[in-house]
Amino acid sequence: MAIYPELQGRVALITGGASGLGWAAAQSFARQGVHVAIADLHAEVAQQRARNLGEQHIGLGGDVASEADVQRIVSATGDRFGRIDILVNSAGIPDSFKPTVEQDVADFRRLVDVHLTGTYMMSKAVVPWMLRHASGSIINLSSIAGVLGLVRRNAYSAAKAGISMMTRTMGCEWAAQGIRVNAIAPGYMLTPFAQKLIDEGKLDADRIRRRTPAGRLGTAQHIADAMVFLASDQAAFITGVTLPVDGGYMAFGAAADAFSGPLD
Ligand SMILES: NC(=O)c1ccc[n+]([C@@H]2O[C@H](COP(=O)([O-])OP(=O)(O)OC[C@H]3O[C@@H](n4cnc5c(N)ncnc54)[C@H](O)[C@@H]3O)[C@@H](O)[C@H]2O)c1
Repeated sequence: MAIYPELQGRVALITGGASGLGWAAAQSFARQGVHVAIADLHAEVAQQRARNLGEQHIGLGGDVASEADVQRIVSATGDRFGRIDILVNSAGIPDSFKPTVEQDVADFRRLVDVHLTGTYMMSKAVVPWMLRHASGSIINLSSIAGVLGLVRRNAYSAAKAGISMMTRTMGCEWAAQGIRVNAIAPGYMLTPFAQKLIDEGKLDADRIRRRTPAGRLGTAQHIADAMVFLASDQAAFITGVTLPVDGGYMAFGAAADAFSGPLD
């Protein structure tokens, strides 16, 4: 594990921190000596996760699509620790995977609310805390779906493309004030989110492996490692980017399998 000593004592607020990529991030930041606030729709799981990390961490319940909940989460984090240095916007829900004409408009709106509006509201609420000491790092979760057209995933893909664009606009807005905004575009990572889609037959793990140059799905740790780097001072001049962490998935464009090795 790479160690970034400058992260010691900083404070990270991680939405969706009770599961998957957010939980991997929470553990990785805690190992760097960062105080972590885990915010999640599932309050009890968030609190249990925080207890697992240790007494200098907190768990908070709330919905990132609710402005009142966002304000409460950010205030509780700032009041507890006196500062917020890192925001990870990892709360997310999957799309319906239905044909467009069968999609429910309410589902579309909810997905955009959670991913795009949630990321917007959390960033807006946290940045005043970062401006107090003219430094901070916001890390958003985009996706390969925000760049490549994934059929039946209109809301998800549009929300993720929106998150990448908002990463640029906010990154440029706050660059001179010491606040960096970056996104990670994961490929297919084996988290509870992806495993459920595989179990439901909505994703085919073998097809994904054939389409991925690395020949395998990624892990939550791959994403957490990139997040810790982006939050560190080693990334001091990186802002407004969407970093693919996808085993080469988006780089590949040939009309053939990207991986021809054995699938165990
Ligand atoms: N796993 C992948 O392969 C993958 C790939 C690309 C992008 N992503 C993105 O990464 C992020 C995290 O995905 P994951 O795989 O860790 O998913 P996950 O389902 O394991 O975790 C998501 C967490 O977000 C929480 N959450 C959902 N809605 C919320 C809300 N309204 N308010 C607060 N918390 C809420 C859930 O309770 C859960 O704990 C998502 O934005 C997802 O779109 C994941």
